[in-house]
Amino acid sequence: MDNRLFFSATQRNSVFIGDVLSKTLKNNGSILEIGSGSGEHGVVFQKRFPEIIWQTSDPELVHRKSISSWIDYEKLNKKMPKPLMIDVEKMPWEIPLKLTRSLQGIVSINMIHIAHWSCTIALFRESGRLLKKGQFLVLYGPFKVGNKHTSQSNYFFDYSLKMRNDFWGIRNLEEVSDEAKKNGFFQEDMISMPANNFSIIYRKVS
Ligand SMILES: C[S@@+](CC[C@H](N)C(=O)[O-])C[C@H]1O[C@@H](n2cnc3c(N)ncnc32)[C@H](O)[C@@H]1O
Repeated sequence: MDNRLFFSATQRNSVFIGDVLSKTLKNNGSILEIGSGSGEHGVVFQKRFPEIIWQTSDPELVHRKSISSWIDYEKLNKKMPKPLMIDVEKMPWEIPLKLTRSLQGIVSINMIHIAHWSCTIALFRESGRLLKKGQFLVLYGPFKVGNKHTSQSNYFFDYSLKMRNDFWGIRNLEEVSDEAKKNGFFQEDMISMPANNFSIIYRKVS
């Protein structure tokens, strides 16, 4: 059965996020993606970086079904594992030992503003536990900087998020990076991306 979902933003941002990842990834091991959504990013990145294993995950069954369908559709079954059920707040994350051993980094795209702040805290806590010195966590999405929106469209987007859920909203970069610091990461890079988004690269220091 074809359960593929189509998230419009992925068509626009996959190439740009891939360009950032191409400078960050090593040519071996695995990446764990948190909040993979439709799975469109996962299959694009698996095809673009064939030497690594791209492990998707999502708490929503409908998303995991879509991810599996995308993997089938792109004939990546032999390379890409099935999506994992990971809700960042359900710690410790249940991940196969093989993945833990081969992990080189964690990526989460457009997740932290569409989830409670406690999800950001959990994401850093568990990433800090799983990743070793020198490994990375990459976040992509809109951020406030100095507690200010970087564009009027982000201001309206933030408002629309809060209308949907009081606990959602565009996060302040400094507060996100404070959480990173508490868990042994430093903010290595902040890359401006199209449509008023950023890629933030956090590197594990200890
Ligand atoms: C806006 S979608 C982004 C999906 C995909 N990364 C993309 O950019 O197209 C947010 C995703 O975060 C996931 N998510 C929400 N709460 C989560 C949580 N507590 N743990 C892990 N993922 C979560 C949702 O299920 C959804 O797939």
